[in-house]
Amino acid sequence: MKILSGIQPSGQLHIGNYFGMMKTMISRMESSELYVFIVDLHAMTSVHDREKLSQGTLEAAADFLALGLDPDKCIFWVQSDVPEVCELTWVLSTLAPMGLLERCHSYKDKVAKGIAASHGLFSYPILMAADILLYQAEQVPVGKDQKQHLEVARDLAQKFNNEFGETFVIPEPAISEQTAVVPGLDGQKMSKSYGNTIPIFLEGKQLKKRVMAIETDATPVEDPKDPEKCNLFSIFRLFATPERTAEVRDLYINGGAAYGYIKLELLELLNDFFGEARRKKKEFLDDPETLRQILAAGAAKAREKASGTLDLVRDRVGLKY
Ligand code: ADP
Ligand code: TRP
Repeated sequence: MKILSGIQPSGQLHIGNYFGMMKTMISRMESSELYVFIVDLHAMTSVHDREKLSQGTLEAAADFLALGLDPDKCIFWVQSDVPEVCELTWVLSTLAPMGLLERCHSYKDKVAKGIAASHGLFSYPILMAADILLYQAEQVPVGKDQKQHLEVARDLAQKFNNEFGETFVIPEPAISEQTAVVPGLDGQKMSKSYGNTIPIFLEGKQLKKRVMAIETDATPVEDPKDPEKCNLFSIFRLFATPERTAEVRDLYINGGAAYGYIKLELLELLNDFFGEARRKKKEFLDDPETLRQILAAGAAKAREKASGTLDLVRDRVGLKY
């Protein structure tokens, strides 16, 4: 099975990214042909700062490796190191109906959050479709928010195949329902663009500040509360054992759940869970040359795969004369 997914280096990676996508990818290393990449071209739709983009790309790579991704067991690279993706984006864009893109809610949501309404942001799903189709991915693990983008990729693949003959594999989304959307501090989807995150690699006082800022209601401790409506509980259960989760659920339902204590327990769980990865990340960032070498080797492998598909596409559409 060919599995592929990418992540934007547009800010500190957070626990929503981890449970929505990174964890699944890392767990599939042994059993699949795995493609993992840092989508710096996509990040340009919101980051126009040279230092932020380049440093963010290295950091996102270090994050993945620190969390356990083994570059010998997958193809791991930076999107812009394989320029073939831009050519395929153009080809697909000539097939993409305006209405299909106009219906994408991610574009509207991002504009509503203050990201500039550029053409790049509008055609973001086409670049993403090119990412997926270029490597003939069969399965794409993503958070629920990306489901519509996967549908765009499937539509474009089908349209291309109908018009020019069987060329692309039709990709399937792989969305884990339990962790489909990790809520942020404010209860909305946790997102780098919304400033409501718990970053994986935040530590000490800064981390404590974020955890204590998780919004909860004003129900007194002894009153019953609905755990399913509480974003603190939604985050807590991601880290606690099933037994502890069940105990805390009982406290919510029967009264006795004190938000302040649950937050402190969550803080400890976070420190345990990511402690080792934090140490490893520092090692990678202390040696950026090794990091660059890992990414360059990954790009060479990815490029080989990409050029095979692009060659076929060029032939199918008539760009070979
Ligand atoms: P962000 O919204 O923070 O910018 P990205 O769009 O870069 O995150 O998402 C990277 C991956 O992480 C995608 O697969 C996305 O679906 C997943 N993801 C992002 N936020 C969440 C979340 N809050 N819950 C679950 N998955 C998420
Ligand atoms: N759009 C995805 C996100 O914001 C990132 C992404 C770009 C991606 N290309 C991809 C995800 C290809 C999966 C496959 O999360």
